[in-house]
Amino acid sequence: MSLVSNLPSREKRAWWRDAVTYQIYIRSFSDSNGDGKGDVEGIRARLPYLKALGVDAIWITPWYPSPQNDHGYDVADYMDIEPDYGTLDDAKRLIDEAHLMGIRMIVDIVPNHSSDQHKWFQEALLAAPGSKERDRYIFRDGKGPNGDIPPNNWNAVFGGSAWHRITEPDGKPGQWYLHLFAVEQPDFNWENSEVRQYFERVLRFWLDLGVDGFRIDVAHGMIKAEGLPDQPAPGSPEMLAAVSMPFWDQDGVHEIYRSWRKILDSYPGDRMAVAEAWVSPASRIARYLRPDELANSFNFDFLTSKWEAKTLRERIDGSIAAISEVGAPASWVFNNHDVVRSVDRFALGLTPGTGDTTLDRHGDSAKLDIRVGVARARAGALLMLALPGGAYIYQGEELTLPEVRDIPEDRLTDPRWKMSGYTDKGRDGCRVPIPWTMKEESGFGFSHQNTMGIEETWLPQPKWWGSYSVESQEKDQDSSLAMYRKALSIRRSESGLGDGPMKWVELGDDLLAFERPGDFLCVVNFGKEAPLPQGDVILSSGPLDGGKIPSDTAVWMRISH
Ligand code: NOJ
Repeated sequence: MSLVSNLPSREKRAWWRDAVTYQIYIRSFSDSNGDGKGDVEGIRARLPYLKALGVDAIWITPWYPSPQNDHGYDVADYMDIEPDYGTLDDAKRLIDEAHLMGIRMIVDIVPNHSSDQHKWFQEALLAAPGSKERDRYIFRDGKGPNGDIPPNNWNAVFGGSAWHRITEPDGKPGQWYLHLFAVEQPDFNWENSEVRQYFERVLRFWLDLGVDGFRIDVAHGMIKAEGLPDQPAPGSPEMLAAVSMPFWDQDGVHEIYRSWRKILDSYPGDRMAVAEAWVSPASRIARYLRPDELANSFNFDFLTSKWEAKTLRERIDGSIAAISEVGAPASWVFNNHDVVRSVDRFALGLTPGTGDTTLDRHGDSAKLDIRVGVARARAGALLMLALPGGAYIYQGEELTLPEVRDIPEDRLTDPRWKMSGYTDKGRDGCRVPIPWTMKEESGFGFSHQNTMGIEETWLPQPKWWGSYSVESQEKDQDSSLAMYRKALSIRRSESGLGDGPMKWVELGDDLLAFERPGDFLCVVNFGKEAPLPQGDVILSSGPLDGGKIPSDTAVWMRISH
């Protein structure tokens, strides 16, 4: 029997339930003024590219004034644009033009911490312990007779202690402040009502400017356990901690999201928020998606999954079961600006038991087979785009860009590099400026020509970058870019894709196969060459061998019952 959806039609349901959102890491997307860094006008110039790709929305990583210690995730002013990236007028123009093209706009909001250059933090440094200025952040006295021992044993995600001792205005060593990330990113005190009111103003500011939604940075981190008890084990916490941590996923965060929901709902047009909540198991994520909280949360399960049918199937089932209880759609993610690109992860695979993880930044390049990684990333894309719900594509994913693994150490900029004591190279390898053209000049087309000439791109690009460029892939009808364009266009016209039901079809342990309404079948082959089911092929991630599906290949088909 054919699978039928009983949801309202796609036009009638909220847009974010089905949306394919394209993540723009602004510094690396497109540079309009030749300074080697991406900017707002650069994005505007590329709107036709995004329209042709067929995405529904864009999420732009933080574009606010920032000293760029963590490339914008250290915000100095939440209601303006970083001068290197443009102006508020440019932002408004971009939002309006994207809307005219039918593309929604999501901005990144960073509520867990600000930059140490934020006006409030500068005021806190000058004010006395116990003052209202200090209370906006998390300042504490140190332990020990001289107060020189940090207030507790918390570590920063980027490495080292999560506490930094300040020098008081009188020149004496003083209190400590909490920074779960870089030293330059002091954590706000969300028990303080001024902080809450401030962020409500920030939300309204951007909603008034026309944005359709927010991506909430570290959405599971704002509330800390009462009394700041020690973390259970030493070491730097991962964003997704294996054990409960006194600073992640505390119950109090939900009250914040309930108040944000009311603000979002007070605006017309299905405004939304998507949580970066690295919480586990899936049932804990569902708590962020209750109807009176956030619409959406990234599902990070795929970021930490092996390229393996069984693991992926378990994770798909787990997420769908958990979120369906609260009526939220799934949102699948294979890549973002914090993890090694999936081409490399899938090429390297995992060696269970050796402590290797899919997020391993160093990996063993000798084991890399890029051809395999690209084939798997393409198959993964067709899997993701056929699953129920929405999906996030990180810039360059549509080009199946590999990670850049050999950025010279003196060019690394991620705070992780320094804070890990130069042991973790950090995330720069997935943030290298996008290659738009085949030729190396102007950063492979990243920087547009202008009369001032072109500066070097902020991160160096490898010599081979041009072979993955938009220009070269536009010339090749079998390229990854061509496949994404076709897939997104099919997804738009197939009313059974996006949110709605799915049903597994059993074709053997090495194949993931599922049906969607409209007699649509997606088959992904993780094993050796396998027979193609009966039906008409709509799209495949690689060449099909007569009646066979080669290994690491996905196929979209129309079947008859
Ligand atoms: C998560 C962001 O994705 C990451 O890039 C950033 O470094 C941390 N949050 C801190 O804001």
